[in-house]
Amino acid sequence: MDIEQIRWETPGIGGPVHLLACGSALMPQPVVDAIVEHIQLEAQIGGYEAHAARDDGLERVYDSVARHIGAKRHEIALLENATVAWCHAFYALPLTRGARILTCEAEYAANYMAMLQRAAREGLVIEVIPSDASGALDLGALEAAMGPDVGLIAITWVPTNGGLVNPAEGVGRIAKAHGVPYLLDACQAAGQIKIDVAALGCDFLSATGRKFLRGPRGTGFLYVAEKWLETLEPAMIDFFGAPWVARDRYELRPDARRFETWENAYALRAGLGAAFDYADAIGMDAIAARVEALADQCRAELGALGGVVLRDLGTQNAASSASRWRGMPPRRWSGR
Ligand SMILES: Cc1ncc(COP(=O)(O)O)c(C=O)c1O
Repeated sequence: MDIEQIRWETPGIGGPVHLLACGSALMPQPVVDAIVEHIQLEAQIGGYEAHAARDDGLERVYDSVARHIGAKRHEIALLENATVAWCHAFYALPLTRGARILTCEAEYAANYMAMLQRAAREGLVIEVIPSDASGALDLGALEAAMGPDVGLIAITWVPTNGGLVNPAEGVGRIAKAHGVPYLLDACQAAGQIKIDVAALGCDFLSATGRKFLRGPRGTGFLYVAEKWLETLEPAMIDFFGAPWVARDRYELRPDARRFETWENAYALRAGLGAAFDYADAIGMDAIAARVEALADQCRAELGALGGVVLRDLGTQNAASSASRWRGMPPRRWSGR
């Protein structure tokens, strides 16, 4: 990893120190260039024409995403953020009245809202699996909770507000052993932890572009394991995801793009592809090692300050860090 080169390629370096990669990271120049070039082409020849002219490159974004997570390109849908991606999988999954959804204490709040909605509408039961003494999801408790009425396991790998890393692979093994669908929120993991969907054993995985991947805002993706593409019907469709083949009939696309709709921000997609390629050119092993070392250093120095209590949960920590500062009330980030 050539840190000097990476810093040189990051226009935001040199300004105020930016530590909010868990919110939206500083994009590298190749990502910015990919977006701006596409926008300029749209301005010169028109949006549809720019799409046609750049179609090959835009199609390669699916290959970039698939390569990054060890999936096949037809298992990838490109969407506008991680929430939409997650919801597409969640709302498509058929669950029968009384079915239990197993989740974790660190589940992303928006996902939980969707669970509450389906639980109220469809008579589902949400069960939060307790954490172990370290604060990570307790795999023993998850195994003990399994039963024939479990319809879904949906957990967050790395939460929004701290360094916890939940045992996503262990959850995958349990889900597989019991034949239960597994939806993994990898939004905070993408770009800082290597993702291998086969090792994770997940059926669905959602993530965003703008966090540790350093892509643009307004981008995200959904991975849908191949076996689901035979049966899974999106909760919403249009004539892109489900071409209109006869007057009273549509056919779902055979790939995960059945979860997409016709209109998209292609400039941002180009930026997303550039972000994946940028990360993979550096190498996820190198990135993960660097992120871990910097986060450990940050925690050690914060812990040594006095008056700062580190609040990260779990035994393995990711890059985000939560701490309590003596004399300072807890503060909440607000984009408004
Ligand atoms: C763990 C986690 N899941 C999902 C999301 C939602 O991502 P998006 O804002 O791209 O919809 C976030 C955003 O902060 C997150 O931290």
